[in-house]
Amino acid sequence: MALKIEEIKKGKINLTNPVILYESPDYKVAWVGSAEEFIFRCNAYLISSGGINILIDPGGIQHFPQVKDRVTKIVGNPANVTHIIAHHQDPDVIGSLPEWLKINPEITVITTPRTKVLIPYYGFDRENVNWLDVSPLDDTIIDIGNSSTLIFLSAPFLHFPDAFVTYDSRSRILFSGDIFAAIQNRWELIVKNMEKHKNEMMYFHVYYMASQKALKYFVNKVSPFNIKAIAPQHGSIIPEEFVKTALDFLSELKCGIDLLYEESPVRSIMDEIFGEN
Ligand SMILES: [Fe+2]
Ligand SMILES: [Fe+2]
Repeated sequence: MALKIEEIKKGKINLTNPVILYESPDYKVAWVGSAEEFIFRCNAYLISSGGINILIDPGGIQHFPQVKDRVTKIVGNPANVTHIIAHHQDPDVIGSLPEWLKINPEITVITTPRTKVLIPYYGFDRENVNWLDVSPLDDTIIDIGNSSTLIFLSAPFLHFPDAFVTYDSRSRILFSGDIFAAIQNRWELIVKNMEKHKNEMMYFHVYYMASQKALKYFVNKVSPFNIKAIAPQHGSIIPEEFVKTALDFLSELKCGIDLLYEESPVRSIMDEIFGEN
């Protein structure tokens, strides 16, 4: 099996190295995120297809040395990164972009027009960057060779108004940015207990996501895809066995403006995750 997620669940993970999520002779997908113990731990991912190396949500400036180290272990030289995907503009997602552009000024940055307006404020000249615009019409698709296309799907107001996600047709992993993210006292790379994980996702989504309407619209859009795993920017990767549960859960979740005039469930969720002090 090229998809390694079931193997990873059983084995011991060495987080000083990249963790290979999908592997075949011509194609690799790896977790290359940050390893510090922090409830807001950041995931970054790399897709490597021949000479094309796509880094997804590389993280903040403080993550740069360790993400670069993990990426280098796969691609040999960090200058071999050809594309960077920025699912939205937050510092934990893309604050390290100026460092990556110093290493390879030819990198193509894949993002949405409204994100493109904001991320140059991290400190680089927008005119000197190769941009690939992701359309809000869900018709931006790139062929990355080895029978793979990346499909970019808009995710309005989840949480940025012009956020999007990436579906890899080869590994069938959905890279979801902040959607399906979780805040976890104890992080694990792959979800094992989905009931516990629902609460950890809820804690994140009630604050950060705009509304149930936005989530439902998004879930309806991605549900027809054959999704073997969901890889968010925070928290654990959701394996295939829990994908439908996760989609159903978010589709019905009240969050954001839904909760403005209701009693927030956050207090009880916090007690469940962190214990009552
Ligand atoms: Fe964010
Ligand atoms: Fe984030």
